[in-house]
Amino acid sequence: MSSNEQTFIAIKPDGVQRGLVGPIISRFETKGFRLSAIKMCQPGQEHLEKHYSDLSDKPFFRGLISYMNSGPICAMVWEGRDAVKTGRVLLGATNPAASSPGTIRGDFAIDVGRNVCHGSDSVENAQKEIALWFKKDELTSWKSAQNDWIYEKP
Ligand code: CDP
Ligand code: MG
Repeated sequence: MSSNEQTFIAIKPDGVQRGLVGPIISRFETKGFRLSAIKMCQPGQEHLEKHYSDLSDKPFFRGLISYMNSGPICAMVWEGRDAVKTGRVLLGATNPAASSPGTIRGDFAIDVGRNVCHGSDSVENAQKEIALWFKKDELTSWKSAQNDWIYEKP
């Protein structure tokens, strides 16, 4: 029951342009997760192709890469118990049409090709994505003063 699991969360260019950086950060912060790292970046096509390499044979791949490369992204690492799985719950289903209200995509998006955020889908992929997007010295490790109030057994 580690409360130190890390996930990679990114606010995509549409989320940044639509002024959703604050609201999306708030969802993770008020849930009780800790922000370990954050930066605005536009890492370019090659980096984005690496990030989405598992999807390279999908028909939407080229459109996805140009969407992701269309403006700055807010890249983050969030930490906490089950951060990967619960992070995906906070995001909602990939297609906003199927995302429940109360989720980020359910509340802020309509189109699968403009679904405002990314979240790692497994602990293994989270570690790979964090290593791709962040240098080691960009990550912080801190114990929140709220820990004892968020976890029964921290
Ligand atoms: O982002 P998530 O892990 O929920 O979904 P994915 O299957 O890993 O797909 C990555 C991204 O590709 C999605 O978040 C969408 O932005 C995009 N996508 C799309 O444009 N059309 C689809 N039919 C499926 C995914
Ligand atoms: Mg995915």
